[in-house]
Amino acid sequence: MNWFTLLSTLAFGPGALAAQLRFSCSQLLVDRIDPLVNPGQVPSPHLHQIVGGNAFNVTMDHNAVDISQAATCTSCQFTEDFSNYWTAVLFFRARNGTYKRVNTFGNGLGYSAANGGQTVYYLSSGKVTAFKPGFRMVVGNPAYKTEAEARKNPALQFTCLASPMTRSGYRYSFPTTTCAGGIMVTVRFPTCWDGVNLDSPDHQSHVAYPVNRNCPSTHPVRVPEVFYETYWDTRPFNDKNLWPTDGSQPFVWSFGDATGYGNHGDYIFGWRGDALQRAMDANCQSDLIQDRLNCPTLKSQAITQANRCSIQRRVKEDLDGWLKELPGSGMK
Ligand SMILES: *[C@@H]1O[C@H](CO)[C@@H](O)[C@H](O)[C@H]1NC(C)=O
Ligand SMILES: *[C@@H]1O[C@H](CO)[C@@H](O)[C@H](O)[C@H]1NC(C)=O
Repeated sequence: MNWFTLLSTLAFGPGALAAQLRFSCSQLLVDRIDPLVNPGQVPSPHLHQIVGGNAFNVTMDHNAVDISQAATCTSCQFTEDFSNYWTAVLFFRARNGTYKRVNTFGNGLGYSAANGGQTVYYLSSGKVTAFKPGFRMVVGNPAYKTEAEARKNPALQFTCLASPMTRSGYRYSFPTTTCAGGIMVTVRFPTCWDGVNLDSPDHQSHVAYPVNRNCPSTHPVRVPEVFYETYWDTRPFNDKNLWPTDGSQPFVWSFGDATGYGNHGDYIFGWRGDALQRAMDANCQSDLIQDRLNCPTLKSQAITQANRCSIQRRVKEDLDGWLKELPGSGMK
């Protein structure tokens, strides 16, 4: 049994009818725009890292643009997936108070060729209904300051990687020790939809978590579980002589959160046609051992090709030096 079979067995129980797409999406863009929470605002309050289709833009009004048609490339391996997935960006805070941006890197479990970005999963157990064009959602909240708040969204977690294989010690706040293999941040979205609204004012209340494995009557439609992992390359910052003298940990989200409880993620659905529904109905399973995507109903591309899809930054500002302050001063 490889690690992924093990993972799925734990998640769904042996023999359950299940789909599990697992694939790499390389870095598309690092920029201060956020079409979901701050549409039209350039620059947006905090910095993001984005993967997926190249129709990502400052505003993404579904009535104006269908991203599954407007995009001409995707940084994901499945070439019918023009969705966008994004998170805040991690920074290292030096003893002298300056900030250095932390890069993402390819998941060592099969996707180390990726030019950063995320490992994306779509999971199901039993029949699910794929998202509709224009669907979007946010999970987590940058304003959360306590573990109790963070736990409202199960599995928005940090893993201190000893190696790419580490899958234990999940926690809701930043690791407090150096992590030899970097830090993995997981973002898992709710799986029940109200069946009507493509979005909601808080970008969250049109979706909900199952209760005792069933979708609540308010959100009766079971959708695929979108789940992504971002590998942050904190390895260049593992010298304890660079860490704060008071024993605290040095990493901070781009919105100024040094606890990690504000971890959040964004999603805009953009699969072309019925591709996602077909893959879920076919109960596609990834095949990590041979690094094959193993979903014949979907078209795919090599990671080296996916690496070539990127877009130009809109906001011209230094993101690579030792910065006096977080871009946007770390505002939420
Ligand atoms: C973003 O939107 C602007 C204004 O609508 C448009 O001119 C531009 O082509 C769009 N960029 C992409 C990458 O779609
Ligand atoms: C601040 O600290 C970093 C890391 O030690 C160093 O590279 C940088 O040059 C320092 N900047 C200033 C202005 O002292």
